[in-house]
Amino acid sequence: MTTIILNGANGKMGKNVIEIVEENKDSYKIVAGVDKNIEKSIYNFEISTDFEDKYKADAIIDFSHPDSLDSLLEFSKKNKIPLVIATTGYNEEQIEKIKLASKETPIFFTFNMSLGINLLLSLVKKSYKVLQDNFDVEIVEKHHNQKIDAPSGTALMIADAINEEANNKFQYIYNRQNVRKKREKNEIGIHSIRAGTIVGEHEVIFSGKDETISITHTATSKKVFAFGAIRAAEFIKDKKPGLYSMEDLNL
Ligand SMILES: NC(=O)c1ccc[n+]([C@@H]2O[C@H](COP(=O)([O-])OP(=O)(O)OC[C@H]3O[C@@H](n4cnc5c(N)ncnc54)[C@H](O)[C@@H]3O)[C@@H](O)[C@H]2O)c1
Repeated sequence: MTTIILNGANGKMGKNVIEIVEENKDSYKIVAGVDKNIEKSIYNFEISTDFEDKYKADAIIDFSHPDSLDSLLEFSKKNKIPLVIATTGYNEEQIEKIKLASKETPIFFTFNMSLGINLLLSLVKKSYKVLQDNFDVEIVEKHHNQKIDAPSGTALMIADAINEEANNKFQYIYNRQNVRKKREKNEIGIHSIRAGTIVGEHEVIFSGKDETISITHTATSKKVFAFGAIRAAEFIKDKKPGLYSMEDLNL
């Protein structure tokens, strides 16, 4: 049994986590929820607008908003409860805070909780190794019209994975309309589309002379991310302080 405190319990992802936990009552239990907005909450666990020290659990799952980071890290450190951070849209300073806090508390942090995206990451790294500089790399990500951050954290994670293979020589280009010049070799173009109810699509294009390879992942339900976060909570509950990611999960 893994017990969970759910931050962002009233959001779309929070509700997906609750549904999966309900379907797997023997393995998981939500003991408390936190959300800035607790109107109209009818759950079989206590929910409040702030973390309360009386909440005890094996792990915290966070699908909320970057604004809650400070209280989230403080609560996890103070009460020694491992943390799964799935929220996206953090700035560099906030990412540094997460890294620093992971010296004191176990933190699982990834911009994408799906198994498929993590397979895509290893495929694009391998593709870059084989194709090297003969191919231009562009990433196109598509999400629903309610998403507030762009590009997606996952698109950046994919770009970073390729850049790491390339000894960080790539520069990320988010739009080309202001500059009239040819594409440079050391660019990764990252493009965001926001429309309708698209759950999440990431396409990585490697285009060379007379041939193009594209690797695409499409999520058709938010449940894949909720399920991944629950698996991460199960994984991290007995871990030592440190920063963990999907690569450690070994699904
Ligand atoms: N890592 C992944 O795989 C993954 C997958 C899907 C979504 N996400 C991210 O998860 C986050 C939530 O997504 P969503 O679709 O559920 O959004 P949402 O807007 O439906 O839900 C967010 C919830 O957080 C609450 N909230 C806002 N500020 C808060 C604060 N300071 N403290 C506590 N609660 C607060 C809101 O009231 C809301 O109920 C987003 O950052 C999204 O990008 C990550």
